[in-house]
Amino acid sequence: MRLEIIQPDDWHVHVREGEVLQYTIPEIGLHFARAVIMPNTNSPIVSIDAMLAYREAIHAAMGQTSFEPLMTLYLTADFDPSILKSAKEFPWFHGVKLYPKGATTGAEQGVLNWLEHAEVFEQMVLLNIPLMVHAEVLSPDVDVFDREAVCLEENLQPLIEAYPTLRVVLEHVSTQEGVNWVKAHYPQVAATVTAHHLCFDRNALLNTRIHPDLFCLPVLKRREHQQALIAAVTSGHPGFFLGTDSAPQAARDTYCASGCAGIYTQPYALSLYTQVFFEQQALAHLEGFTSLNGARFYGRSPNTQRVCLVQKPMKVPEFLPWALEDRLTPICAGQQLAWQVEGV
Ligand code: NCD
Ligand code: ZN
Repeated sequence: MRLEIIQPDDWHVHVREGEVLQYTIPEIGLHFARAVIMPNTNSPIVSIDAMLAYREAIHAAMGQTSFEPLMTLYLTADFDPSILKSAKEFPWFHGVKLYPKGATTGAEQGVLNWLEHAEVFEQMVLLNIPLMVHAEVLSPDVDVFDREAVCLEENLQPLIEAYPTLRVVLEHVSTQEGVNWVKAHYPQVAATVTAHHLCFDRNALLNTRIHPDLFCLPVLKRREHQQALIAAVTSGHPGFFLGTDSAPQAARDTYCASGCAGIYTQPYALSLYTQVFFEQQALAHLEGFTSLNGARFYGRSPNTQRVCLVQKPMKVPEFLPWALEDRLTPICAGQQLAWQVEGV
């Protein structure tokens, strides 16, 4: 079977920094026309200069392939709202990312009390800048599997009520509660959905043996939540769109005593998403999810190029090259995927 669609965009991706950009960057342009680059680098992207330098480093690493990197700023405790006006002048500036302090990799400088950042949110409303949220609370009283649902109640709902014209993206939605919340508040809010949250539940991570390469944040949930995500995206609802949250970690950081969260999906995500829609007999809604819904929500034009998805087996390598004499384990390492991407 072959299927031609408008070229997709990846609305949430981590490319890291320095030497490894030579591995992470060329993979994106193979399939995606635009990619929203997350700002949780070792020193977070908190200024226009940092954003410009990061964008330049990304362009320098592109090699043969190319895509448009859409850049984001990291909302730190001392974020200066006055920089938003200059940021907005760049057509490639995409939005502001909110990490609750300590909630995930590179979130040490995230926010504690969301509503304290009124000046930032007011400015974002004025300039029509979207907020992308890692929606998890980090509290010893809240179970790791409940972090998203509690965050919706405690942080996100009050935020959208306080700023009814602030556009908010619930990044990597992972629960039935998240799906319901997006449906209830679209088009003020929308959500990105990863390939791994659609393809796996928590049994794949914590079985009779642990699978550290499937550890990500938000953590994989129980089967009912996975099914709610699948139903949401394959229904064709315009509030859900592709964001891989591809988050490469060196093998030494994945397989160690205190392993890091993050799954590398970039080159295989499109194949996995297609399989999900195929299994649900919902291929008619694939293009909306991969190539239209996100662009519409963000007020950008759909891409003009097209790609072809072909039902042809493809073996994922056991590992990929990585810097510092280390390697990177991709999602589904060593397994066979059912779909390949071809140009048209
Ligand atoms: C991301 C990372 O490694 O940067 N990790 C992850 O598990 N998704 C951060 C994030 O998006 O939570
Ligand atoms: Zn992420």
